[in-house]
Amino acid sequence: ANTPGAAAAQTGRYFGAGISGHLDEAAYVNTWTTEFNGVTPGNEMKWSTTEPRRDQFNFAPADEIVSRARDKRMTIRGHTLVWHAQLPSWVNDLDATNLRSATRNHINQVMGHWKGQIYAWDVVNEAFLGDGTRRQSVFQQKLGDGYIEEAFRAARAADPNTKLCYNDFNTDGVNTKSTAIYNMVRDFRNRGVPIDCVGFQSHLSSNSSLSTYQANLQRFADLGVEVQITELDVGGSGSAQADVYRKVTQACLAISRCTGITVWGITDKYSWRDEETPLLFDNNYAKKQAYYDVLYALNNP
Ligand code: G3I
Repeated sequence: ANTPGAAAAQTGRYFGAGISGHLDEAAYVNTWTTEFNGVTPGNEMKWSTTEPRRDQFNFAPADEIVSRARDKRMTIRGHTLVWHAQLPSWVNDLDATNLRSATRNHINQVMGHWKGQIYAWDVVNEAFLGDGTRRQSVFQQKLGDGYIEEAFRAARAADPNTKLCYNDFNTDGVNTKSTAIYNMVRDFRNRGVPIDCVGFQSHLSSNSSLSTYQANLQRFADLGVEVQITELDVGGSGSAQADVYRKVTQACLAISRCTGITVWGITDKYSWRDEETPLLFDNNYAKKQAYYDVLYALNNP
């Protein structure tokens, strides 16, 4: 196949891009819709955009992405429902009772709006710290440890036919943080708390050690959940960068429950890592070595 999207589809997977803004730029939209068969709105489904004031919902920015993606039959990831960042200040000001009901309402309204259209939702994002303890977010501080479980239960009720993911970064191998998340997922599976997938953001650099990358994905897959690479980007350039992209791609292909890879942007020009060149297309939308190595790997699983 000629594109990463089509090549991934040969094994039933998606190869998506995180996109945000720039829908008026032809090269941006063309590259997205030609090369990829999946999408994650990079900012447009976050709380600060979707519910900037309590009970006032704004779905228009994400709708623009979703409608184009649906036209192209893309796999759409929803990102994200419960996260400490890009959270409007009114949420921080609520007491526990109101925070609990506002969070449930947010999950219901946002998931309800796109019910049946989203392959998987990042229900909770970045709830753990590197030492394996919980991040002291407003949710953690006011609702306690149970907030993650409450969010997943509310999400299942809001849309029973989408996959519910936990998503985090610096989980690119067997380490203290990924083990804490693993223990939570195992506990959820044992107790019947609804969780279907784990997202590994994979914000990497050319010298990232990937020695336990695949083994880490595998141990989660062995719990019966899907694993997805959700925000892949790799600092650096040339063959070192391409090698990391290739290894991540091969790790996913080696695991039957690894259902897709999303890179966190299209062109280096608009990467959130604005001092780096971490994506598959350069500033002028030219394909980089990493692009060709990913395409080759997807075509040769
Ligand atoms: O849209 C406004 C624009 O109107 C304004 O002129 C401009 C000036 O600063 O800001 C624009 O908003 C920015 C937005 O991206 C859209 O470009 C925000 O300031 C900026 O903070 C925001 O950054 C996003 C970041 O999350 C915020 O935490 C990045 O685009 C987005 O790629 C990044 O994505 C996160 C994932 O959601 C979770 N995992 C980590 C990842 C990287 O940080």
